[in-house]
Amino acid sequence: MVTEPNRRRVTVVPNGPVLVEGPVELVTEDGVTHTSDRFVVAVCACRRSKRYPFCDTSHRKRVRDDDSK
Ligand code: FES
Repeated sequence: MVTEPNRRRVTVVPNGPVLVEGPVELVTEDGVTHTSDRFVVAVCACRRSKRYPFCDTSHRKRVRDDDSK
């Protein structure tokens, strides 16, 4: 009998985080392992989070185009 693989859903949010069904173990480029047991984990894709690699909603903050006007 062939069984379906146990796939995890990963959802890319436009201009936002990548949502991954948890729990997750995430290894950043510096080799540090981060874990989260949340049902859905928001992984920062903008690099502005103070809680990187996890999203802290900093991606919502408006960035001014030009302050000199
Ligand atoms: S994606 Fe939300 S803070 Fe980076």
